Amino acid sequence: MRLLFFGAILSLALAAQTQAPKQSRVERGREFLGLPPPPDQAAAERGAKLFAQNCAFCHGQKATGAEGPNLIRSSVVLHDEKGELIGPVVLNGRPDKGMPAFSSMTPAQLYDIAEFLHARVQDAANRSSYKLQNIVTGDSKAGEAFFNAHCTKCHSATGDLAHVGSKYEPSELQALFLYPDKAAPPVTMTVTLPNGQVIKGTLKRHDDFNISMVDNSGTFHSWPDDAVQYKIEDPLAGHRELLAIYTDADMHNVLAYLVTLK
Ligand code: HEC
Ligand code: HEC
Repeated sequence: MRLLFFGAILSLALAAQTQAPKQSRVERGREFLGLPPPPDQAAAERGAKLFAQNCAFCHGQKATGAEGPNLIRSSVVLHDEKGELIGPVVLNGRPDKGMPAFSSMTPAQLYDIAEFLHARVQDAANRSSYKLQNIVTGDSKAGEAFFNAHCTKCHSATGDLAHVGSKYEPSELQALFLYPDKAAPPVTMTVTLPNGQVIKGTLKRHDDFNISMVDNSGTFHSWPDDAVQYKIEDPLAGHRELLAIYTDADMHNVLAYLVTLK
């Protein structure tokens, strides 16, 4: 009952907020400062669903990190009050670092996710339990259309991906197409030495100073980055490029479609 009553107040607050005149996202976030102190339970519960659907496959079901960083120890989360720091990261993503943009999230959804993360920070301190949420919420028909437009140049629903829906859990599937390093086949490369010799092999490590590889006969090589010419063929470049294209709905729809490939 209390929760319902509280939810009603919150939805009024959210309704009032969506009609408010143009304000910056930060200002809109701050309007919520009038609400009871965090974590706001009703918002955190809605945020838990949003998080499970959009974020958990990279940041872990409990936000404690997987391929993406642990958010419970993130300084962005710890310094955030009502979504004013978390919101921009989610809206813009960090596509170059492997996080897609969720540009269509509303201020209300960002607020809910922020409250969920604040609740998780508290839960982690209190060691309380956390229920896993259903993540398959998309529209599989729309996902099929997206798949046919963007994925079929490398994949086939009746070929290499024919049974992915039974092979993987939904959370694994989501990570496989959204998190480029998850599928991680070897990155092949070709090096041309100053004397013209060409060496083909697998990339081992590449930083600002050095590049190293194991050639096709198994020998390790390492060079200063500027001493050789090289071409890296990242097989998952296609997944990385798609991170900049997905809308939130696309990600859900594609997952809903892949799950049907039994
Ligand atoms: C495809 C994987 C992926 C998805 C999906 C994803 N993230 Fe991220 N996220 C990352 C990666 C990788 C980073 C680290 C980027 C970097 O190194 O700057 C990150 C960073 C962050 C940060 C900043 C952490 C810090 O301390 O700098 C926040 C906050 C965050 N994500 C929240 C979210 C939320 C909320 C969602 C869901 C709406 C989400 N992420 C979805 C991969 C993802
Ligand atoms: C430019 C080529 C390319 C595009 C485009 C591409 N992928 Fe991939 N995908 C790959 C490669 C390469 C792998 C790794 C395959 C391997 O390890 O054998 C992969 C792996 C996967 C896997 C894991 C398969 C498994 O059995 O482990 C899934 C799922 C997947 N991709 C889904 C997608 C979806 C969905 C799209 C479109 C939204 C997509 N991919 C677009 C190249 C691509």
